[in-house]
Amino acid sequence: MDILTAINSRASAIKLGTPGPTRAQLDTILKAGIRAPDHGRLSPWRFVILDGDKREILGDAMSAMRRRLSPEASDDEVKKEGQKVMRAPTIVVVAAYTTPPGKIPEIERIVAVGAAFQNMILAAHALGLGTMWKTGQPAYDADVKKSIGLSPEDHIVGFLYLGTPETPGAPRESKLDGCVIQL
Ligand SMILES: Cc1cc2nc3c(=O)[nH]c(=O)nc-3n(C[C@H](O)[C@H](O)[C@H](O)COP(=O)(O)O)c2cc1C
Repeated sequence: MDILTAINSRASAIKLGTPGPTRAQLDTILKAGIRAPDHGRLSPWRFVILDGDKREILGDAMSAMRRRLSPEASDDEVKKEGQKVMRAPTIVVVAAYTTPPGKIPEIERIVAVGAAFQNMILAAHALGLGTMWKTGQPAYDADVKKSIGLSPEDHIVGFLYLGTPETPGAPRESKLDGCVIQL
């Protein structure tokens, strides 16, 4: 698939199923990620791979977060928060490592990881896999970060859900209206 076809045909999956990516596919996806522009060659990306049962580590932390942040939440709501990790057979937590601070501003490291994320979803799409980019409160929660081996200072740029596109999404129309300033 050429790059413009990949860009124009990609859409977030509505429903993902098994199988998830093979180890070789995952390597291809991660290597596409680290091809992103990287000011200062800092390699600011960290990828936490959660396959199969390992997703429960994140799911348990997400349930605990819901219990802590929403004490009024029912047991069912707390359980549901954790079960979100079951939306795909494989999750890659894509994070920006921003310490120690240096010459390259933090925002540039985070943006580089955003670019890596985009490379990864395009690579997955070119391999015939479906993706979802998720964040929400768990992405900003220190305890959730710790549960998966990140430090509170790291920035989770997104949870990359990967699997077989059972219900693929429809690509959006590319409308430039209002986005372009022509001087
Ligand atoms: C930084 C970032 C965070 C996102 N977080 C979420 C999220 O928490 N939940 C969600 O459903 N989609 C999330 N998305 C995905 C967008 O909602 C999705 O890409 C958008 O709806 C456009 O759909 P498309 O990917 O099919 O073009 C996120 C995207 C970005 C760039």
